[in-house]
Order: sequence, then C-alpha cells, then structure tokens
Amino acid sequence: MKPRVFVARVLPDEGLAPVREACEVDLWTDELPPPRDELLRRVAGVDGLLSLLTDRVDDELLDAAGPQLKVVSNFAVGFDNIDVPALTRRGIPAGNTPGVLTETTADLAFALLMAAARRIPESVDYVRDGKWRTWGPMLLMGVDVHGATLGIVGFGRIGREMARRGRGFGMRNLYHDVSPATPEDEAELGATRVEMEELLRESDFVSLHVNLTPETHHLIDADALRAMKPSAVIVNTSRGPVIDAGALTEALRGGEIFAAGLDVTDPEPLPADHPLVALANCVVVPHIASASGVTRGKMAAMAAANLLAGLRGERLPTPINPEVYE
Ligand code: DGY
Repeated sequence: MKPRVFVARVLPDEGLAPVREACEVDLWTDELPPPRDELLRRVAGVDGLLSLLTDRVDDELLDAAGPQLKVVSNFAVGFDNIDVPALTRRGIPAGNTPGVLTETTADLAFALLMAAARRIPESVDYVRDGKWRTWGPMLLMGVDVHGATLGIVGFGRIGREMARRGRGFGMRNLYHDVSPATPEDEAELGATRVEMEELLRESDFVSLHVNLTPETHHLIDADALRAMKPSAVIVNTSRGPVIDAGALTEALRGGEIFAAGLDVTDPEPLPADHPLVALANCVVVPHIASASGVTRGKMAAMAAANLLAGLRGERLPTPINPEVYE
C-alpha cells in the first residue's frame, strides 16, 4: 500500500511527479491555502504532509493528523510556520528547502533595493499616467546605489549573496549577525561586522535576512527607523513581522527614511487599502523572492525528497530538527 500524503498546494512537477508516483496524494488545488478547519480535516490519517509557509503546523495539527504521521516537509527555507519543538517532542522530522533559493532571493532583494532607490515603480506609473511631458533636471531623483554603504542584517546564505551583489556595485558592506563570519569569508565578501546601532547609523541601504524569531520580531521598530539616515532605504525579503509596519508607515510618511522595498509584509497578504501600498516611496511585491521557474522547481524537488525520505524512515536530506535523529 502506498503511503498517504496531503500536499497543501499545487507545486512544480519536479516535486509533484515523484510524490504522485510514490504516494496516494490528496492535493489541495485551490490557489488560496486550505482554511484551518479544512487543513485539520484533510491531514487526519496521513503519513506525510507537504506544507507551505501559509500552513501552521503545531500541536493542534499534529493531534488532528494522528500518531502515524511520519514526516512534515515544508516548501520553503523559512519555517516560522512550524512549531519545531512540537514535532521534535513527537519524534517527527521536518524538512525545509535551504540553499536552492539563495541566489534567486538575493537577486530580488537587490532588485527591490534598486527599484526603491531609483523610484522605478513610481517612474513607470508616471509614464503610464501620461505625466511625462519633458526631460526634467529635478524629475524623480533618487539615491545612488554604487559606492553606497550596504548594511546586511543576518549574514547567512542569503545575506552573504547580498554582500556579493553589493560588492559588484562597489558598495561598502557592513553586516550584523550574532555569529561572526570567518575572517576569510569577511575578506572574500568585503564585509565588516558591526553592532546593529552602527549598521543603522552608517548604512545607506539596510537589507534584512534574519529568521523570524521572538528576538527578531519588530527588530526594525520606530527607534531603529529613527536611527537610520533620512536618505536610507530599507529592504525586507525575510519575514514581514521583522519590521513594525505601523512604525515603517510613519517613517516613510514623515521622511525619516527615503524609501522601502518589501517582499514580505505584516500582515501578509497586505490588503490593497493598507497605507503602505499607497505610499509612493514604498515598493511592495507579493512575497516572490524565490519565484523563478528554475528555483521553484528545485524547491519542489527538495521538498519531495524530504517527504519521501521521511516516509521511507530515512534521514531527511535537509532536516530542520536533526535532533530527532539523536
Ligand atoms: C522561503 O522559502 O522561506 C521564502 O520565503 C519563500 O521562498
């Protein structure tokens, strides 16, 4: 008998095909995530769950699934939707998709940085709205990227890729992370570790690459925004709640900082009538940092590999809670 699995959304074939071949699949085909009660109903009795960052995996869900559940595979590198200790307590391994989306995510972070710095969405609207009447010496002036100081908060895989991009633009790279990079890595990436206060004070661009944890929730609050330069741009491709959205709205409105580029927001999705959407100096895109065809295919293949390994009772290729194997 094939194992039973619930797959919480339609994925690229690189992941769906092998899962379909090996399992009896209950696939959620709607574009929106399964509502909570539906998710709890659909996981009852499954051996494996392929979840998305929009599905909360906690004790309630694990109880609803039942004791036969062998594995949870998250289609994302981030796993703040998963109560990891709850899984570990039950000896259930969980997997994520690190590595394959690093460059794609850094590409988008840099694109947001440039779009916000050079007011690209605003300029596109300007043309679309028929306002372009002549070349103007003062028209839509932004801030320079080349030669500026880039402050990277969280110096993991994606943060380091951001440093490479900064280097390519002749930027001075600062970073803040609880664990310092090796002197060799710092030299290779041209990055200097500084305290958060210095990073905020010195940077022309602040790019966030931390996990969402109780410590990083509202890491960028009103005080942090006030500490930044009035010409600074903040970029967030990590998780929305790392920034206090209310404080950011006020800072952008009041000219405390120049602009923001957000791939992630709080709440998410950001309602169309949210004040941040209306602000010309805020570029918001709908959590698409890893959304290239190739990368999403690799993420799907990796999520499938974790799921299938867990179903076979093997170690997941990329476990979030390797402690379950100890
Ligand atoms: C992740 O993987 O955590 C991103 O937010 C989506 O790719």
